Amino acid sequence: MKTLVTVTHPRQNSLTHAVMNRFVEGLKQNNHEVDLLDLHHDGFNPVYTVEDEEDWINPNKNYSPVVRKEMDRILAADTLVFVFPLWQYNVPAMLKGYLDKVWNMGLFGKFEEKKVLWICLAGGDQEHMTKYKRDETLSHYLNILLAGYARLKESRVELLCDTLSESKEHIESLLERAYQLGREYN
Ligand SMILES: Cc1cc2nc3c(=O)[nH]c(=O)nc-3n(C[C@H](O)[C@H](O)[C@H](O)COP(=O)(O)O)c2cc1C
Repeated sequence: MKTLVTVTHPRQNSLTHAVMNRFVEGLKQNNHEVDLLDLHHDGFNPVYTVEDEEDWINPNKNYSPVVRKEMDRILAADTLVFVFPLWQYNVPAMLKGYLDKVWNMGLFGKFEEKKVLWICLAGGDQEHMTKYKRDETLSHYLNILLAGYARLKESRVELLCDTLSESKEHIESLLERAYQLGREYN
């Protein structure tokens, strides 16, 4: 199985990157072929330009070479995984820009055999995330509004909470969870 893993964080020594690395380790143990896209490190430009917006509704439009390349990486993958921190109870702007540009009309109808997993790191603990249905709201947005609208076959959210904890055991448990997710992901 080929998995496109997209990580979003400006800092290479972030917990987000550590989680992504452990997840990828698990995936490789699980015989996945991994294609890694690191949006910040790889210099992805998330700004939606006139060129991106023009004729956006036409699935046969001429996409820019960068967008075309990223669309092709999605088409070559069986499954998509996003690893990112929760910022303002949403995906970081960098990832939102990627989705605006790359999850476009040219891919609609071509997503249907693909699955997506959203691995989201939240500073808030489990109680904080449950209060006001913050966790459910986020899952609804990612699974139904984004992946459902794009008609992906399956979408699921894995929330790793309390990432600012000073407990080494807790942080290690999040990394172990990421590794097991990779080991079991099919
Ligand atoms: C700009 C910004 C916005 C944030 N917004 C939220 C938020 O809405 N909810 C939350 O629980 N944590 C929030 N946090 C905390 C991050 O989720 C936390 O820093 C991250 O999960 C820790 O992983 P990292 O070390 O890889 O950044 C925010 C952090 C930043 C920098």
